[in-house]
Amino acid sequence: MIKVKNRKILLLPGDGIGPEVVSEVKKIINWFNSKRSLDFETDEDLVGGAAYDEHGTPITDEVFYKALESEAVILGAVGGPKWDNLDFSKKPERALLKLRKELKLFANLRPAICFKQLVDASSLKPEIVSGLDIMIVRELTGGIYFGEPRGIKPIDNGERKGVNTHTYTSSEIARVARVAFDLAKKRNNKVTSCEKSNVMEAGQLWREEVEEIHKNEFKEVKLEHMLADNCAMQLLRNPKQFDVIVTDNLFGDILSDEAAMLTGSLGLLPSASLGAKDKNGKMRSMYEPVHGSAPDIAGKGLANPIATILSFSMALRYSLDLVKEADELDKAVQNVLDMGLRTKDIFSKGNKEVSTNTMGDAIIAQLQN
Ligand code: IPM
Ligand code: MG
Repeated sequence: MIKVKNRKILLLPGDGIGPEVVSEVKKIINWFNSKRSLDFETDEDLVGGAAYDEHGTPITDEVFYKALESEAVILGAVGGPKWDNLDFSKKPERALLKLRKELKLFANLRPAICFKQLVDASSLKPEIVSGLDIMIVRELTGGIYFGEPRGIKPIDNGERKGVNTHTYTSSEIARVARVAFDLAKKRNNKVTSCEKSNVMEAGQLWREEVEEIHKNEFKEVKLEHMLADNCAMQLLRNPKQFDVIVTDNLFGDILSDEAAMLTGSLGLLPSASLGAKDKNGKMRSMYEPVHGSAPDIAGKGLANPIATILSFSMALRYSLDLVKEADELDKAVQNVLDMGLRTKDIFSKGNKEVSTNTMGDAIIAQLQN
């Protein structure tokens, strides 16, 4: 049998439930390798608190270079109370931010889809969320997460001052806006751009630049501007009005958690962080579940692996040119939900509660069919 070319995937399980959920993806990769001869080449290493415990840093240079050389990085989760009191520069989250920033993964795609089998898991009324399919495009390498100056410094009268800076340049806004418009063309053709142009100059620039890209390159897409606080409210009032939402790093962080809960559980939501395409159409990329490390349930087999499995499906779709395989994997997840299998986070009466491991195995059994 002819094998497709090697595809390097770096697995960074990280902390908390990260290792458990990534281990289910590992099984799926092995399945594709043995049953479909896809020849994925995987490597695995430490990141976050796990890396700090071993090496005294949340990400070593070696791991960083491995990430640079991979076609896709699959990350579990980082952080936990154990590392809360570390110096800022050593915190597990710094690894994640370094990977995002230095791999230049400026576009973070966070789909919020309410699966029909799970409408009842949402805290909103079924008619508000059923059929929901939103894509949040969060800018990921700029804004207040990275702006300078930053820090905590002493000032007069013995007080201290904490400083962070929210900045965006025209090109940073333009490139993420293009990603959002491109996605909208393949979906329902509508982009909602969110900022606080009523109080922030950077928000005003955001609005003007998005407007400009729209006018010059994407006139056929419907564009709407919305203040971020209003967007937070509209997401609860009438979420189905949205198709693609494009917003900055901080608003995107908050709005995507909110959108996630519309779907019932954070345990279902994947994400893709993408860089610019080179001339061969290739880009750097990292895939991770939107949920965090959930230390309270770590190691108990309670974690829902679906968010990470769907993140791998996004890797198949966006980085590895394996759209058919991505569709199959998505379908396998749907089938398992149809069969009533549920991890604890999405369990409801009449269904069958299963462990992380059993959920992964059931998805593989569906792939097999
Ligand atoms: C996310 C997370 C991260 C963020 C944390 C873990 C640094 O909340 O990916 O949404 O704030 O970006
Ligand atoms: Mg977040």
